[in-house]
Amino acid sequence: MSAIKIDETKCKKDGLCVQECPGGIIKQEDKESCPEMIPNGEQVCFLCGHCVAICPHDALHHENIPMEASPPILKELSITREQAVQFVRSRRSIRRYKKKPVEKETIQLLIDNARYAPTGGNSQLLKWTVHTDETKIRAMADLTIDWMRKAVASDSNNTMASYLPMIIDAYDAGVNSITHDAPCIVFASAPGTYDNGMVDLSIALSYFELISVSAGLGTCWLGLISRALKYSEPLKEVVGLPESHTHFYSMVLGYPKIKYHRLPERKPANIFWG
Ligand SMILES: Cc1cc2nc3c(=O)[nH]c(=O)nc-3n(C[C@H](O)[C@H](O)[C@H](O)COP(=O)(O)O)c2cc1C
Ligand code: SF4
Repeated sequence: MSAIKIDETKCKKDGLCVQECPGGIIKQEDKESCPEMIPNGEQVCFLCGHCVAICPHDALHHENIPMEASPPILKELSITREQAVQFVRSRRSIRRYKKKPVEKETIQLLIDNARYAPTGGNSQLLKWTVHTDETKIRAMADLTIDWMRKAVASDSNNTMASYLPMIIDAYDAGVNSITHDAPCIVFASAPGTYDNGMVDLSIALSYFELISVSAGLGTCWLGLISRALKYSEPLKEVVGLPESHTHFYSMVLGYPKIKYHRLPERKPANIFWG
């Protein structure tokens, strides 16, 4: 039984699905026939859903990509180029948060949307680890600082970034630049055996942070804790990622305390037109 069924009453035999399938596993005998999946095509199909997405007549049904879970693209929800540009340019790294928890349902919704980020071969191997317990998040910041203290102390050749001692001093004085006193911390991770793990999880976290803006939330990428997590066993224990997931990165999430009014400039794009 083929995974793809074509409704012959709807199919216009335009061959769009044949041209679109990246696996080349949908064939059409001639212009008078409906396309069909080649024998054993299921073994090659990586469930990208392009065949379902491209058919303008709702004629193609894939047994693993249900129509009910593949809603139509609504023209009225399209955004203009100006809207898209302002949306991406107005995203900021948020470092000051309200003392207000983020509801579990909201976090779930953000992750549910971030899972539509592209993944190599549509592998979708990412795992999300979420912490909202204030004491645990504080422990992660403490353990990161512990690791930084040791790293700076053993750095006889001064190869560590010069700002690390400043961050430690500030932390001791009550300024938390590790987790920014945010109410939630999110880790995206992937198996170490998967070559595209770091790329996939970075894209997914980018989706996550952009979607969070539309929910009135803010995020900040956490380089320091992500770095400490590579080395600090006590930190690994508190965070609790799957052992095989050696690709990871983290960000905090929360309701911003502040509001921005301008879109700051960046360096001009450095492009080589080959
Ligand atoms: C890290 C990475 C590498 C990828 N490499 C290729 C590639 O070499 N060739 C290709 O056709 N698609 C590539 N893709 C696209 C994926 O196959 C695609 O994202 C996935 O099938 C889901 O389809 P979608 O992007 O249309 O949602 C890559 C995607 C990612 C994130
Ligand atoms: S889901 Fe993707 S790979 Fe599978 S048949 Fe459809 S277009 Fe081809």
